[in-house]
Amino acid sequence: MRVLKSKNIVLIGFMGVGKGTIAREMSKQSKLYALDCDDLIESLENKKIKKIFEESGEEYFRKLERETAKWLEKNVKNSIISTGGGFYKVKNLKKIGTVIYLQSTFDGILKRILSHPNAKGKLEKRPLLKDLKKARFIFDERIKSYEKCADLVINVEEKLPKEIVKEILGLF
Ligand code: S3P
Repeated sequence: MRVLKSKNIVLIGFMGVGKGTIAREMSKQSKLYALDCDDLIESLENKKIKKIFEESGEEYFRKLERETAKWLEKNVKNSIISTGGGFYKVKNLKKIGTVIYLQSTFDGILKRILSHPNAKGKLEKRPLLKDLKKARFIFDERIKSYEKCADLVINVEEKLPKEIVKEILGLF
């Protein structure tokens, strides 16, 4: 737990893999606060991510991610940070904290989303997940980069959040 005491933990991975769920479970088990990048962006703009994409486009959203990354580096420590699926592209990712990639296959992610009681809502709030063919393409395009960016890789498929968090915390 020594690393956790000083550095942030940054969770990266594809849309719907469970970064927010794992962050909250980690928060509970470690007693550290959890922050979510998309929530920070939504509060700053006072708009849902979907609306930001619709009204201002993806590039504008990416700019907000880069600004959020700078803010996190400067102002946040000792916390768990869950990120949006494209946040790994920010230049200062590693400076924010220890980066953990939550890894799953695309089909494992789909299974997870579709088994949720609010599956429709989960799909609808994510503009880049609306078209599953395109989403699979983005997934294939990103997987190598997620691995490259990460300090640690945790396979999350077919595992419960509690088990995943135990595995992560056991590494520190
Ligand atoms: C995105 C992932 C989303 C959100 C936005 C873009 C992406 O977050 O940031 O819709 O590019 O993968 P989640 O990973 O929490 O779905």
